Amino acid sequence: MNNYPIVIVGGAGKTGGRVEARLRQRGLATRFASRSTPVPFDWAAPAGWAAALEGVTKAYVTYHPDVSVPTAAEDIAALSELARKAGLQHIVLLSGRGEPGAQAAEAALQASSVPWTIVRSSWFNQNFSEGYLVESVLSGEVALPAGNVPEPFVDVDDIADVVTAALTDARHIGKVYEVTGPRAISFSQAVAEISKSLGRQIRYTQISAAEFAEGMRRAGMPDDVIALLDELFIVTLDGRNSEVQSGVTEALGRPARDFADYARGAALKAWRV
Ligand SMILES: NC(=O)c1ccc[n+]([C@@H]2O[C@H](COP(=O)([O-])OP(=O)(O)OC[C@H]3O[C@@H](n4cnc5c(N)ncnc54)[C@H](OP(=O)(O)O)[C@@H]3O)[C@@H](O)[C@H]2O)c1
Repeated sequence: MNNYPIVIVGGAGKTGGRVEARLRQRGLATRFASRSTPVPFDWAAPAGWAAALEGVTKAYVTYHPDVSVPTAAEDIAALSELARKAGLQHIVLLSGRGEPGAQAAEAALQASSVPWTIVRSSWFNQNFSEGYLVESVLSGEVALPAGNVPEPFVDVDDIADVVTAALTDARHIGKVYEVTGPRAISFSQAVAEISKSLGRQIRYTQISAAEFAEGMRRAGMPDDVIALLDELFIVTLDGRNSEVQSGVTEALGRPARDFADYARGAALKAWRV
């Protein structure tokens, strides 16, 4: 193992944990940086950021609470500047499709002098099994203001493969990979696939944005998270992101995983009760 780790900023989340496992498998040293790590890293506390970059060679960066929020661009610019001073050789940023705030964060990284790769992602499959929709799936009803707009959901295992490739092969420097799944389906069709894989009825119910916000409020979600999800559903599901993109194949030379394969796998693990 080399002694100069790759830092995973934003911690052991849905993508970070998978990226860390892949890098470790390749014999590379890694270090998580989030609020609960030995050297704490909090996006809300910039004074601690430099310590998390000390002695590292490269970084995988996920922004919290979401790369689309207005603070993201300024924070990514500030982190990139610290990374330049610390001599980092490469930053890989996880971004989102069709979100003005996310595109501003990408531009901030691209304007820095640290070599970069951007992985611009569609909605994660794993939102249904590891994210905020898992309880809904387990309860038998997913109620969202998503409409019939198709979304090419992407598997976070594909994202982790792309990020790992980028961090370990300099040919990915300077690339923007727009990563999606191989087909676009509506939320209602996604829930039908989940239902089929589980062999039990999971219902999709179309609700208004106001009903969605009220439901989250009753479930105890903080106002800022409600506002964020509300905006994500309204802004990103207006059809702008429906087209399938080839980022996974461009980066890895293989097709992206299909939603049905994801649903079959999650039925055996994440949704097993
Ligand atoms: N979900 C989607 O469909 C989707 C689509 C496109 C892009 N994205 C982007 O993906 C990113 C999230 O990646 P992910 O899903 O892999 O992560 P995740 O699963 O949401 O990550 C959770 C991790 O974030 C850390 N964290 C939370 N708040 C933090 C803060 N203030 N400072 C530092 N770390 C913090 C937590 O660790 P601690 O508790 O230890 O801090 C936790 O380990 C976001 O930027 C989002 O915009 C998501």
